[in-house]
Amino acid sequence: MTATKGLEGIVAATTSVSSIVDGVLTYRGYDIDDLADHATFEEVIHLLWYGKLPSNSELNRLKGELSASSAVPSQVFDLIRLIPQATNAMAALRTAVSFLALYDDEAGDMSREANLRKAIRLQAQIPTIIAAFARLRVGQTPISPKEGASISENFLYMLKGEQPDLIAIEALDKGLVLHADHELNASTFAARVTVATLSDIYSGVTSAIGALKGPLHGGANEAVMTMLEEIGSIDNIEPYVKQKLANKEKMMGFGHRVYKNGDPRAKHLQEMSRELGKLTNDLQWYEMSVKIESMMYALKGLRPNVDFYSASVYTTLGIPRDLFTPIFAISRCSGWVAHILEQFENNRIIRPRAEYVGQSDLKYIPVELR
Ligand code: ACO
Repeated sequence: MTATKGLEGIVAATTSVSSIVDGVLTYRGYDIDDLADHATFEEVIHLLWYGKLPSNSELNRLKGELSASSAVPSQVFDLIRLIPQATNAMAALRTAVSFLALYDDEAGDMSREANLRKAIRLQAQIPTIIAAFARLRVGQTPISPKEGASISENFLYMLKGEQPDLIAIEALDKGLVLHADHELNASTFAARVTVATLSDIYSGVTSAIGALKGPLHGGANEAVMTMLEEIGSIDNIEPYVKQKLANKEKMMGFGHRVYKNGDPRAKHLQEMSRELGKLTNDLQWYEMSVKIESMMYALKGLRPNVDFYSASVYTTLGIPRDLFTPIFAISRCSGWVAHILEQFENNRIIRPRAEYVGQSDLKYIPVELR
């Protein structure tokens, strides 16, 4: 038995949710470029969960269900109030999502119908939790969800306490479409491993949030912004990047296990970063990002991944840096759920083997003789 570090190249599941073939990402057969240009996040949720783009009435039904489910039990606010102010937002989200299960009467019902109902509640309530956490930690009152609003509009509304403009809603929505699913990424794998034991959907999503939090996965978008702020100005880029690479440190937002010639989502976010920068008359982060991108390609042959330009996009939208990864979770919840449902449909426990490299043939010595 020989281990494959990081399971690189191992095909661990079959799926019809999404695919990456020759650098092209598709959700249920639709190219991400097509969806990014035309679909709303709610349409993508329908596509991922029910296997097809919705008709008008199906879309309205789903939007109505999501909107009607977006309020959280009041105990969740009580929990959030107990969370220390300096807590990492993903740690807070992970805790609150796990807590939500305790107030869901259907938490233990494993039928597909109940799982879909819980999925709607999770998808609708994660944005409410993040916005409430962001407000409560600075002493502001949480804002109740706005009836009939899309997930993007509602999230920005609950976060800022005012009606967001259309450009911001559309930009966030496109970001959610682009992050919704990505084959067997680390957090989706974590979700599938968890529910393959026949544990429940809340456990699966809680595991996934924990995996997404790390800076090698979803946490990279926040780390990119930290890096941009640390660099500070375009003149500091060259020495900063050279130093990082000389120290064999990772530049956040670059590289990918699967894409070797560029992440197809990055170009959309780059364009959004430029357009939003122009609109707000603040192209600093965009211009710095472009320079870093060209240096990284010249020096390392590495292209940006989805997290690189999302940092400047969300910053230009006025979103606090530590909410970038939670926003990723709002989007990826849709993909996690699709994979969890698929895992339940054709389940087998996921239990690989390990190559043992420790000592052997040791003999027990009584504690007083050690
Ligand atoms: N900066 C500098 N060098 C890098 C980077 C980077 N961001 N990414 C990869 N490399 C180099 C490695 O040092 C290594 O070089 P070497 O062969 O000379 O030692 C080589 O490229 C291969 O890198 P690995 O880390 O082995 O690649 P792996 O497939 O295991 O990791 C990962 C992929 C985690 C994305 C990696 O590229 C990375 O750490 N990137 C930075 C974090 C990041 O942006 N994560 C978000 C990924 S997208 C997402 O999850 C949403």
